[in-house]
Amino acid sequence: MKTLRPLQSIDKLENAAALDPVANKVRDVVQAVLKPGALRDILHGVPIGHPLHPLMILVPTGSWLSAAVLDLLPGSNKASAVLIGTGVASAAPTALAGWADWSEGHEQQLRVGIVHATANLIAVGLYTGSLVQRLRGRSGKLLSYTGLVVVSAGGFLGGHMSYRQSLGANHNEDVPHRIEAGWHSIGSLEELQEGKLEKRVLGEIPLVVFRRGSEVSVLSNTCSHLSGPLNEGEVTFDDGNPCVVCPWHNSGFSLKTGEVVQGPATSPQHSFETRVIAGQVEVSLPNAG
Ligand code: FES
Repeated sequence: MKTLRPLQSIDKLENAAALDPVANKVRDVVQAVLKPGALRDILHGVPIGHPLHPLMILVPTGSWLSAAVLDLLPGSNKASAVLIGTGVASAAPTALAGWADWSEGHEQQLRVGIVHATANLIAVGLYTGSLVQRLRGRSGKLLSYTGLVVVSAGGFLGGHMSYRQSLGANHNEDVPHRIEAGWHSIGSLEELQEGKLEKRVLGEIPLVVFRRGSEVSVLSNTCSHLSGPLNEGEVTFDDGNPCVVCPWHNSGFSLKTGEVVQGPATSPQHSFETRVIAGQVEVSLPNAG
């Protein structure tokens, strides 16, 4: 089955360079306001291991959709108003989480995202107008139903960003499926420079390797956020534990465990078990194959 023709034009949005000046300006503002730190990591969803924004949109969209159903029934204007107010109140934190993720996206994602955000902003305005009308004893249904259409269009673009453009998806998920189970040699210990990030390749899978003395840490090299090359990043230390910081958007991962120590990534890197046999470094990925 083919994609519906009107929806094919969304692909063109990704390449609409005319959106770049405004998208870049808004991105700069978001990055200036949301500095790296605990708040931004929470907005990204680092503590829950998934982006937070898709979870949060349930509150405004769920409230507004419920209000639309109630509005079909007689005598439910007050209940609808409560739901619409709930949606309007929850829109700001929901948008903030979305802005945080969006501001670390690449240019095609920024273009679609700026239209997605504009649609949602218009929808919030329409729902706010509907709420004001309802509080004044008027119907407000025309505004809220228009808001539902607009927020649905915005949601469609959000789905495009998540599923077609993979913003928020784990870009490292395929690794265990592309590696044979068991131990594999990745070269001699002697060839690894002490304290430096090095790249090795296992089959088709790039790895980032870090040696401290006889201890070797190995992670998948493709950053789970948006596929940045971790071997080109920097080594930092978190409570004495070595971490790698991605060169593209500064996600940080523990070199020992692969866990995220700093967003925007929310998914950990695959961490390999290592051993040295007769001077050769061998790696094994639990659950591979
Ligand atoms: S690709 Fe974005 S932080 Fe690594």
